[in-house]
Amino acid sequence: MLIIEGLTRRFGDRVAVDNLSLEVPRGAFIGVIGRSGAGKSTFLRMVNRLAEPTAGRIIHDGVNVTALRGRALRDWRARCAMVFQSFNLSGRLDVLTNVLVGRLNHVPSYRSLLRLWSDEDRAIALSALESLDIADFAAQRAESLSGGQQQRVAIARALVQSPDLILADEPIASLDPRNTKVVMDALARINRDYGITVLCNLHSLDIARSYCDRLIGLSAGKLVFDGPPEALDEAASRELYGLEAAEVMGAGPLSATTPQSSSALLTA
Ligand SMILES: Nc1ncnc2c1ncn2[C@@H]1O[C@H](COP(=O)(O)OP(=O)(O)O)[C@@H](O)[C@H]1O
Ligand SMILES: [Mg+2]
Repeated sequence: MLIIEGLTRRFGDRVAVDNLSLEVPRGAFIGVIGRSGAGKSTFLRMVNRLAEPTAGRIIHDGVNVTALRGRALRDWRARCAMVFQSFNLSGRLDVLTNVLVGRLNHVPSYRSLLRLWSDEDRAIALSALESLDIADFAAQRAESLSGGQQQRVAIARALVQSPDLILADEPIASLDPRNTKVVMDALARINRDYGITVLCNLHSLDIARSYCDRLIGLSAGKLVFDGPPEALDEAASRELYGLEAAEVMGAGPLSATTPQSSSALLTA
């Protein structure tokens, strides 16, 4: 169980995340939604302590993550694997080596420095690639792959960390619709097969609705929605997207249009 208590992050006099409290049971697939600038990335970055909270606490399985230092903090970071919009692979290295980087916390440092991967590490990395249907590319340079394939390599790298959590920050933002599906399916499979909790920042409401079992809606850093996708009705969408939604709709309130067209516009 991940417990967020009054989590706040300020940048100067701007509040990026404002007194956020929620509980995430193990194995959940959570979509964090909201407009650009709503605080989604800052929230995810605080969970793995890439960003320091100004106030509040993060508790994971009874451990106060916000108080961790040194070795314990490094261990925590290894247990929350990040997946980024830009993949963050080493383009010139082959795919297998990129995945093996995810094993770094599991091998002694002299071996990781020399890239002396054990047969076991290689087998783990290869099987992660197989489970994502990209083992055929293991020997290729990462940069030679398509965006969707690269994101699957990044997910394989996250998987071999044996994380408790996967924190995915708009993982599909630079992908076309076909690759969007492939990557979201991969995250869903990992969530289901390994019980790894997934927190996924998503700009697209449609994708969030179809993949997540719970949505967390942020607006100006505040929690304005927390519930199953089916509870995100037009009023809640309007609260989340505010004036932007009304402006996009042009002619008055969202309820004047079909849900289909309003969600398509919101994700445009
Ligand atoms: N390093 C930073 N320095 C100053 N302001 C920041 C920084 N990171 C984020 N912010 C601000 O915090 C708010 C939330 O940003 P962010 O978490 O990136 O939102 P989102 O991911 O939802 O687009 C925005 O107003 C943004 O400008
Ligand atoms: Mg962001």
